[in-house]
Amino acid sequence: MTNPQWNAVDTYFTETIAPADEALTAALAGSAAAGLPEIAVAPNQGKLLHLLARIQGARSILEIGTLGGYSTIWLARALPTDGRLISLEYDPAHAEVARTNIARAGLDKIVEVRTGAALDSLPQLEAEGAGPFDLFFIDADKVNNPRYVEWALKLSRPGSVIVVDNVVRGGRITAPDPDDPAITGTRELFELVAAEPRLDATAVQTVGAKGYDGLLLARVIG
Ligand SMILES: C[S@@+](CC[C@H](N)C(=O)[O-])C[C@H]1O[C@@H](n2cnc3c(N)ncnc32)[C@H](O)[C@@H]1O
Repeated sequence: MTNPQWNAVDTYFTETIAPADEALTAALAGSAAAGLPEIAVAPNQGKLLHLLARIQGARSILEIGTLGGYSTIWLARALPTDGRLISLEYDPAHAEVARTNIARAGLDKIVEVRTGAALDSLPQLEAEGAGPFDLFFIDADKVNNPRYVEWALKLSRPGSVIVVDNVVRGGRITAPDPDDPAITGTRELFELVAAEPRLDATAVQTVGAKGYDGLLLARVIG
């Protein structure tokens, strides 16, 4: 579901307070030229992620679902020069485009894109002692969102922030569909978060250039 007014308002917000620059514009253009799907976060959503990371004082970020690295760039720009962002991407072609976009943005010293299924990469990160991360952005295959939040908890510290994108899906979240793994995965995510005493969470609906969707925001409290 989209609405011309939502697009117009997103454009207004973006042009006034979250304007693109050369690297962000080039990241989207490079991703489109390489045939990647146009499913990156909207610019004002990227700015929201950036501000959340800054408010959190994040020095380390784990992203699950890189695509062409557009959200990665927004997030990495919130980090100090000795900060670190690891982004997990299943598709080697997406990862390659992202690495080019991230290098063009001058962020390749602090960003690492790891190729492979996130559920394979996450145990490796744990084995390496890579955590704790200050902020997690989960934006990959929605069916595995419950598993990704479980892994985020393992790789977190008290005070870590977890953001999960696309939890509304045009409102379909309230209409359980056993044939839609993204919906069943997202509903399982909410059940998991509700039952998890170490998480304090909320979720908000959003409308805009990306249609009708929403995000879940959680803080690790212990
Ligand atoms: C919605 S896109 C990410 C968009 C990106 N966060 C942005 O806003 O610029 C989802 C990405 O997750 C990747 N993905 C899907 N399944 C995955 C998995 N099992 N492990 C890691 N990445 C996966 C897809 O290949 C795709 O590039």
